[in-house]
Amino acid sequence: MKAFNIIEAGKGPESWTLVDVPEPAPGPGEVLIRVRAVSLNTRDLMVASGYFPIPPKANVIPVSDGAGEIVAVGAGVTRWTVGDRVFGSYYQDWPYGQFPADAELRGLGGPIDGMLADLVTLPESGVVRVPDHLSYEEASTLPVAALTAWNAVMESGPRMAPGATVLTLGTGGVSLFAIQFALASGFRVIATTSSREKAERLRSLGVSDVINYKETPDWEQEVLRLTNGQGVDQVIEVGGTGTLPKSLQAVRSGGLVNLIGLLTGYNDPIDTSPILFRKIRLHGSGVGPVQMAESMARTIAALQLKPIIAEVFGFEQAKDALAKLQDSATFGKIVIRLD
Ligand SMILES: NC(=O)c1ccc[n+]([C@@H]2O[C@H](COP(=O)([O-])OP(=O)(O)OC[C@H]3O[C@@H](n4cnc5c(N)ncnc54)[C@H](OP(=O)(O)O)[C@@H]3O)[C@@H](O)[C@H]2O)c1
Repeated sequence: MKAFNIIEAGKGPESWTLVDVPEPAPGPGEVLIRVRAVSLNTRDLMVASGYFPIPPKANVIPVSDGAGEIVAVGAGVTRWTVGDRVFGSYYQDWPYGQFPADAELRGLGGPIDGMLADLVTLPESGVVRVPDHLSYEEASTLPVAALTAWNAVMESGPRMAPGATVLTLGTGGVSLFAIQFALASGFRVIATTSSREKAERLRSLGVSDVINYKETPDWEQEVLRLTNGQGVDQVIEVGGTGTLPKSLQAVRSGGLVNLIGLLTGYNDPIDTSPILFRKIRLHGSGVGPVQMAESMARTIAALQLKPIIAEVFGFEQAKDALAKLQDSATFGKIVIRLD
């Protein structure tokens, strides 16, 4: 079968090498999945570039997010049958509960093999049913970006009532899912972006207030103006140290800042006094466990939510797809289809 391997990390997309490898067979408790689509995250580029904190295993199959059809089951499998449509959980050993200290050692597409292959085997406990209304391309976007957004908006901190305000930064995969979940929950969304064109697309999704953070560098002041000086209930903070000081100004006293990403950096000094004096909850947040992915999938099915896809590449163009991740014009997820 065909697969990509990372033979030598550190070369970005060029680290992905197309290889022919033997077909895997499902062991006891495992399912064999014919992968139909994968989607890409910043993490996949970090792994390929050698920046991810946990080095990839030798000749790893890259990419954490994928969806496909079960084509065989191993001995003792009870939850799945041939023909079921599933997506993989990013964390393979985190069924529910508190974040295990060693969870990252079982994250797909780095320390263990990922999804960019014709066929993969996963434990039956490590896959989630695809909502019926989603294509494989759409379902492939759920494991990391969607679940990270779901965890932050729906499951972190105190429950927010309809009418609560969420601030999202930029229009990356996590922020777009956060916007969709927030709007579906009746929350007001204030979104930032660097692009006028993307601002229009955000408005067409239902975002009432969009701020261009390039044209309005003091965007936190605009957020305060839009909230009558109060600040928002929650910030989806994907920027890191370049945006965190402003997010701490833009959140209300006692509000929640979910620190998810580090797009602008992670080790600059930060004034921590607003956290203390304004009783802000600063919470490191990310992908959730399998049980949370199941909850998210149920809601996506009930509300018929559709992930936003920017572009679909063919398997042979996988490296181009990874390079496309760095294109700032992208609005939505980058997907690779496997035929
Ligand atoms: N903790 C976790 O488990 C977890 C999970 C998923 C992602 N992450 C992290 O979360 C971050 C976002 O991930 P993603 O997949 O959504 O990224 P992405 O799709 O690559 O996001 C790119 C977008 O970020 C926006 N952006 C860049 N610099 C910005 C700035 N200074 N202010 C506001 N927006 C800015 C831009 O939006 P505009 O073009 O609209 O300006 C850009 O298009 C990454 O650091 C990723 O590694 C962490």
